[in-house]
Amino acid sequence: MFQDIVVDAPTTEGIKYAGSKLKLLPYILQLVRKVKPHTVLDGFSGTTRVSQALAQTGHRVIANDLSVWSEIFGKCYLLNTHSPEHYQPLVDHLNALPGRDGWFTEHYGGEPNGGCSVSDDGLKKPWQKHNTRRLDAIREEIDRLPVADIERAVLLSSLVLALDEVESTLGHFASYLNDWSPRSYNKLHLQVPQLIPHTEKHSVHRGDIFDVLPQAEADLAYFDPPYGSNNEKMPPSRVRYAAYYHLWTTICLNDRPSVFGKAKRRVDTSDTVACSPFEEFRRGDSGHFLAVEAIARLLREVRVQHIILSYSSGGRATAEELNQVISSVGRVVEVLEIDYRKNVMAGMRWTNEWISEAETPNREFLFLIQKS
Ligand SMILES: C[S@@+](CC[C@H](N)C(=O)[O-])C[C@H]1O[C@@H](n2cnc3c(N)ncnc32)[C@H](O)[C@@H]1O
Repeated sequence: MFQDIVVDAPTTEGIKYAGSKLKLLPYILQLVRKVKPHTVLDGFSGTTRVSQALAQTGHRVIANDLSVWSEIFGKCYLLNTHSPEHYQPLVDHLNALPGRDGWFTEHYGGEPNGGCSVSDDGLKKPWQKHNTRRLDAIREEIDRLPVADIERAVLLSSLVLALDEVESTLGHFASYLNDWSPRSYNKLHLQVPQLIPHTEKHSVHRGDIFDVLPQAEADLAYFDPPYGSNNEKMPPSRVRYAAYYHLWTTICLNDRPSVFGKAKRRVDTSDTVACSPFEEFRRGDSGHFLAVEAIARLLREVRVQHIILSYSSGGRATAEELNQVISSVGRVVEVLEIDYRKNVMAGMRWTNEWISEAETPNREFLFLIQKS
C-alpha cells in the first residue's frame, strides 16, 4: 500500500516536540508536490521542521506559531542570510564561557546526587547544575553581544538545541524524571545550526493564526493545529503547548518570570490564563467542542485553494465531526494515514473509510483538501 511515496525529505533540525511532524515530512512533501505551490503557509509551525523542509525544496514559506521558540527557530532557518562561518567564532566564544550560578541554576539545576534528580527543595530538576551554570553564563552573554535580531535568533536556536540534548525529561517540561537521564551528564555543547541558503523571501510571524490569515497570501496552507487530548484526568492547562515547553519560552525571552508548582512553570501558563481556541476543552453554546469550531473557522477563513490538514486520533475532534467540517469547505483530493505502532503508511481514496479507522488511537492522517 506504500503507493507512490517517492519524495526524500531534506535534513531538518528541531527540539523534541509533542506532535512534531519529522516522520511525516516525506508524505507532506508528496502531497505538496501534487499542488505545485510557490508560497506555502505553515500556520502552526512548532519546531519549524515542515517549514525547513519546504524552504529546502524551493518554496517560499510563511511560518506562524503562537510560541516564541517557534518564532526564534523560524528566524534562524528562514530569515538568516549569514554563512555558517560567520557564526562559528560566536558559538566558540559561547562554548568557552565559564559557568556561573544564576536564575536558571537556582530554579532548574540539580546536583548529580548519586543519580537522583530530587534536590534539597524536594523538587526534581530538568538539568544538572554543571549545565544550568553554563546556561546562565551563555544566556546572559547572548543578550550582551552586539548582534542583530536574526543573529541573536541563530545563537538562541543553537542554545535551545544544545539544551534539548542534555535534558532529563520525557520530552516536555510538565514534569521531570526522578533519575537523571544518561544524557544529562553530558556537557552542554552549542553547534552552529544547519542554516538554509537564503533563496526566497520567507516570512515569520508569532501570533494567533486568525490574526495572520488576513495578511497571508499563499498558494497552499499546511495546518497542524493542536488536537488536545481526551484524557479527562489530565488538567487541561498542563497539556497545552505553552505549559509543556514553558522553559523554551523563558530561555528565549530571558525574562525571569514568576514560577509555580513542582515543575516551576511560568505563571502565564496556569489554568486561569486564556489559551488558544484549538486547545479549548469546553463545548460552545452550539454544543460543539470549541476546538472543532476553531478548525471549521480556520478552513473557512484561509484564502488559499489547497489545504493540507494534519489530524491525530485521540484528540478532542472526532473523525465524524472533522469529516463534516472538511465537507463544508470543499473536497478531499487525497487522504494518507500512518499508524505509528506499525509504522505503516497507507494511501486511501476518499470513501469515508478513514472515519472508522480514525477512532483507533495513535493514527495520523493527512488530508489534501481543495476548497470550493
Ligand atoms: C502539533 S504542533 C505543530 C507541530 C509542527 N508541525 C512540527 O512539526 O513541529 C501545534 C502548534 O500549534 C501552536 N498553536 C496553538 N494554538 C495556536 C494558534 N491559535 N495560532 C497559531 N499557533 C498555535 C502550538 O504552539 C504548537 O506549536
